Amino acid sequence: MAPSSSEQNGKAYEYVDHAYDVIVVGAGGSGLRATLGMAEQGFKTACITKVFPTRSHTVAAQGGIAASLQNMTPDCWQWHLYDTVKGSDWLGDVDAMQYLAMEAPQAVYELEHYGVPFSRNEEGKIYQRPFGGHMQNYGDGPPVQRTCAAADRTGHAILHTLYGQSLRNNAEFFIEYFALDLIMNDDGVCTGAVAWNLDDGTIHRFSAKMVVLATGGYGRTFFSATSAHTCTGDGAGMIARAGLPLQDMEFVQFHPTGIYGAGCLITEGARGEGGYLTNSEGERFMERYAPSAKDLASRDVVSRCMTMEIREGRGVGPNKDHIFLHLDHLDPAILAERLPGISESARIFAGVDVTREPIPVLPTVHYNMGGIPTNYWGEVLNANAENPERVAPGLMAVGEAGCASVHGANRLGSNSLIDLVVFGRAAAIRAGQVIDRESPIPALNTDACDKIMERFDSIRHANGSQPTSVLRDKMQRAMQEDAAVFRTQETLEQGCKRISDIWSELPDVKVTDRSMIWNSDLVETLELHNLMACAITTVYGAEARKESRGAHAREDYVDGPFSGRDDENWRKHTLSWVSEAGEVKLDYRPVHQDLIAEGIDIKKIAPKARVY
Ligand code: FUM
Repeated sequence: MAPSSSEQNGKAYEYVDHAYDVIVVGAGGSGLRATLGMAEQGFKTACITKVFPTRSHTVAAQGGIAASLQNMTPDCWQWHLYDTVKGSDWLGDVDAMQYLAMEAPQAVYELEHYGVPFSRNEEGKIYQRPFGGHMQNYGDGPPVQRTCAAADRTGHAILHTLYGQSLRNNAEFFIEYFALDLIMNDDGVCTGAVAWNLDDGTIHRFSAKMVVLATGGYGRTFFSATSAHTCTGDGAGMIARAGLPLQDMEFVQFHPTGIYGAGCLITEGARGEGGYLTNSEGERFMERYAPSAKDLASRDVVSRCMTMEIREGRGVGPNKDHIFLHLDHLDPAILAERLPGISESARIFAGVDVTREPIPVLPTVHYNMGGIPTNYWGEVLNANAENPERVAPGLMAVGEAGCASVHGANRLGSNSLIDLVVFGRAAAIRAGQVIDRESPIPALNTDACDKIMERFDSIRHANGSQPTSVLRDKMQRAMQEDAAVFRTQETLEQGCKRISDIWSELPDVKVTDRSMIWNSDLVETLELHNLMACAITTVYGAEARKESRGAHAREDYVDGPFSGRDDENWRKHTLSWVSEAGEVKLDYRPVHQDLIAEGIDIKKIAPKARVY
């Protein structure tokens, strides 16, 4: 379309307007799977992404994708459902979890047919490895081999395949475009989004019948994270500014094996292939804490055990502040075949030859269970206690950005990649049902676009006294210290105060580069605003939740049959809103407890103590 221009703050912006049936924001695994599903149905589909699609954070997913294929051990969707429910510490929505477990095999076979180069077992079937918290026989064990792998580069393989298939189906890509905000009309319907082309400085106004947010997580609210620096909660920020709620933000997952110091991921697949953890006494301490699953207990459990070992003086290294992960007993040929990527990461980031020495590791922020509330079709919910299922028309969210809620209070390893493709696909199926193909694409809401540009312009010209990096560092340190693996009322109250203080300092930010082309200073400032919406809802939600559940481990709530979990009062989802002034409002909605199909007795997944 022909560009037009407009003045903001005396500066001209050049606009390019577009009309699509569907726009997808984000090109990781879920964004690409949704894009592909939309394009396959003939929808005119655009995918807007701030990084090149194959550089999205899904590329870093190593160990694999869970599906009960039964290629290596007995398995069934019922066991997968049970493990997911238990892993979620009974906070996940049963309908979403059942949909995931039942659809997973089909979603993986589709990936195989699209061309994902999975590793193979001796029969030529897709290779599957054990992963934490995945067991046979409704948790009784032994561990099940459910995690389908392409060596330890599974996310990389999926991303490349889905990008190629999306292009093949004529999806259009707007690459290195930063999405600024959603275009909402006065009735709360989403009719598009505005994005900034980082390469030439133009502003693109997209009208669409459906907008799908697939912007990933907000791991970078913390100082040390396995997440890419691009994981800045951009979708959550846009949702918060649209006055819509976020859900269960307090549940932040620490992966047990981030490389000490560097934070890079060492896949749980390493323990799946036989790796184990030791303390300074050389003890395989997980045998003490989780006699059945041992090193393959759920990752919130393993992270807490590692932290306790360190606190009790049994950490390794000169400062006794980390733990060893051993792979040195494994056959070097197996390491080369199944774990080549992490062998390289360990060499580069820890200076370790994994065939001879242990890897120094530490629990590191890895995943956000919370996000934008959706039903299991990916439709965004404008929910509150009175209207817990109310849909926000024209808007979907998938992947780590969304909260279906399939992971509840804690996600099992390899349930993320399967979440991306099952729910990316579900969103496309649902869009096929709800989009009226005959109706015109909504007209551009220029008033809403002008407001978006006013905000953008004021941030671009921010002339305070604190560089973005200083405020970001304060936020990341506060989150790392006060919303950590273990939490107390005191640390959480302190976290709320620190993050609120930083929020009030946001108007004092200083952007030094005013240009429109490759202005990384401005990108980082926009990202900081998105991160802060995530940080403030995380700490306030955590302070309010007076129990221990999954990744939300409060040292002041440890009693009772469920070790501090309080199902009577707290088996419910947190909803949180944050105003422009930084005031957080909380509300709650019920956990879905009903099955969507037969095949399992609901009593099998009834709440009980969570032991591994
Ligand atoms: O350990 C890993 O490979 C991570 C997988 C996941 O988070 O699902």
